[in-house]
Amino acid sequence: MEFPRWDLSGKVAIVTGASKGIGRGIATAFANAGASVVLASRNEELLHEAAEDIRGRGGTALVHKLDVSREDEVVALVKTVAKEFGKIDILVNNAGTVLRKKAEELTTQDWDHVLDTNLKGAFWCGREVAKVMIPQRKGKIINIASIWATGARATILPYVVSKFGIYGMTKAWAVEWAPYNINVNAIAPAFIETDINAPLMADPKMMEFILSRTPLGRMGKVEDLMGAAIFLASEASNYVTGHCLFVDGGWTIRG
Ligand SMILES: NC(=O)c1ccc[n+]([C@@H]2O[C@H](COP(=O)([O-])OP(=O)(O)OC[C@H]3O[C@@H](n4cnc5c(N)ncnc54)[C@H](OP(=O)(O)O)[C@@H]3O)[C@@H](O)[C@H]2O)c1
Repeated sequence: MEFPRWDLSGKVAIVTGASKGIGRGIATAFANAGASVVLASRNEELLHEAAEDIRGRGGTALVHKLDVSREDEVVALVKTVAKEFGKIDILVNNAGTVLRKKAEELTTQDWDHVLDTNLKGAFWCGREVAKVMIPQRKGKIINIASIWATGARATILPYVVSKFGIYGMTKAWAVEWAPYNINVNAIAPAFIETDINAPLMADPKMMEFILSRTPLGRMGKVEDLMGAAIFLASEASNYVTGHCLFVDGGWTIRG
């Protein structure tokens, strides 16, 4: 009998949106589990800070400046990583943004900004990484979805659409790339304590709503997502594909 391997020793992982929040947490957890991680996003200063922290913990981290809404930059990132390491084992499509505005007031620019970052950027990253993973006949792609990938909330229309798209793309990629031994899954967090939620956390009414609506009675922390990410990146999840793992304190139990 062969027991599953949870460690990521020798693996090469790209994490987009790794300068802070969930992406930084997942990149740090991967490095702690033995992977070499490439931290990619726009803010180089924060990326270097995150990479230094990882190295200080004995991990291996590289920094690559990336705006996921620029196709040429995504292509360049994947080319650079494939050349540097000769392979790519794991991609985490995490870079994301939110815009809170009434649906009837949204401009085309608002729509494009959120969709280009959250959905088109992930599409480009997955497409380019697949070109490396298909010949390898091996790979793990993790898309960061949201509880708003299967449900909706007012004033975040483009975000909801982008996350429904991420949910669909996870399943479509999973079925298309399964013959190449590429697992594609998603993680759907509920409310996690990161900068993206700063306005919500500063609003006592909103906090009361979140806490009363969450069965586990608290917001999530970045650390709460690490186990799910390591599972989906490791060989322990080799027979799991097209799945969306809700890490939501029970939010979706109530439907
Ligand atoms: N926090 C939550 O409650 C929650 C819940 C469900 C899902 N999520 C999802 O989790 C992901 C991370 O969110 P977070 O909570 O960690 O938010 P965050 O702390 O605001 O971090 C967002 C990350 O995305 C990066 N990013 C934004 N636009 C980018 C672009 N154009 N190109 C490259 N990187 C970009 C940012 O880096 P730079 O500024 O350096 O580019 C940053 O590293 C998002 O996809 C979000 O939708 C979050």
